[in-house]
Amino acid sequence: MAAELIDAARKQQEKVQGKSMRCKKSHGEARMAYVSQVVDLEFVQDFVRMCDGGWQQGWHERNGGNASYRLAEEDIAAVKACLGVGGHAIGFAASDESSGLEAVAGEWIALEVCEPFLAHEWLLITATGSYMQNVVRLPEQCLGLIELNEQGDAYRVVWGFEGGGRPTSEVSSHVMIHSVKSRATEGASRVLYHCHPTVVNALCLALPHDAREWTRTLWKTMTECMVVFPEGIGMVSCHVPGSLDLARETAVAMEGHNAAIWAHHGLCVTGGTCDEAFGLAHVVVKAAQIYESACAMCAGPSFRQQISDEDLLRIAQTFGLTPNPKYL
Ligand code: 13P
Ligand code: ZN
Repeated sequence: MAAELIDAARKQQEKVQGKSMRCKKSHGEARMAYVSQVVDLEFVQDFVRMCDGGWQQGWHERNGGNASYRLAEEDIAAVKACLGVGGHAIGFAASDESSGLEAVAGEWIALEVCEPFLAHEWLLITATGSYMQNVVRLPEQCLGLIELNEQGDAYRVVWGFEGGGRPTSEVSSHVMIHSVKSRATEGASRVLYHCHPTVVNALCLALPHDAREWTRTLWKTMTECMVVFPEGIGMVSCHVPGSLDLARETAVAMEGHNAAIWAHHGLCVTGGTCDEAFGLAHVVVKAAQIYESACAMCAGPSFRQQISDEDLLRIAQTFGLTPNPKYL
């Protein structure tokens, strides 16, 4: 397994080295060449594309929204290969002095939460105050790679956050949700994406803040909803952004869902890949838009017809899915 990882990391490095040669021309100094290599890694590129996709959709006014990706073992190996540390010691404990990681990592910084389940995990995460519209242009500034310590109560910066940035103010939510989702999915869930779609916040004014109500409303707007989120949508009450209360309530809501509404704030989704998480956000937003349009056409939610509960069940059965019994 270790040999496979080393091989994969080497291949990944070979792939990016060609690109970094080109990057060197524009950047000059050696350190920037390392940074460019990390940026070129596939998982970083996927993440950048997701951030930019949200910006293109209009879901990220100013610094609104944030995102993180929990690295797989091979991603960590690829980053280390790019940074020139731990080349032949892939899979070692991150605190191991022999890794050479000490030379590139920053100081340990305390988190407000403690998630030992995420011991030594690495997150690619957006910088607080950064604008999603700038992620494509300035990835080394808008993004950073952090490594959690053994206790899961502190992190250090391994790459990125150039210019003195630090992780999103929602880092507590990100850490708690990754912990919950990783446990619930045996490690399959890796991406957490948070955005501020207009229509979601508009519906927060119109609909009761109730998971069942939101789930059923959206399920009944188009047949794809049951297919994409049979577990439904969680609901988190209105909290101060970045607060521990928001993080705690979201972690509970996300245990049984891959999407949750942050009341009067936005949407939070998870997935195994950036495409999966982003796709889920896209479907939720589209369903909300259909509902909004239908309300405008019918001067309120008294529609001529809707997808019935029987239809929902039929869709779930056909696709071999189990709809959340709390909502059907
Ligand atoms: P950050 O800039 O700290 O990520 O905050 C944006 C946001 O959406 C808070 O919920
Ligand atoms: Zn937000």
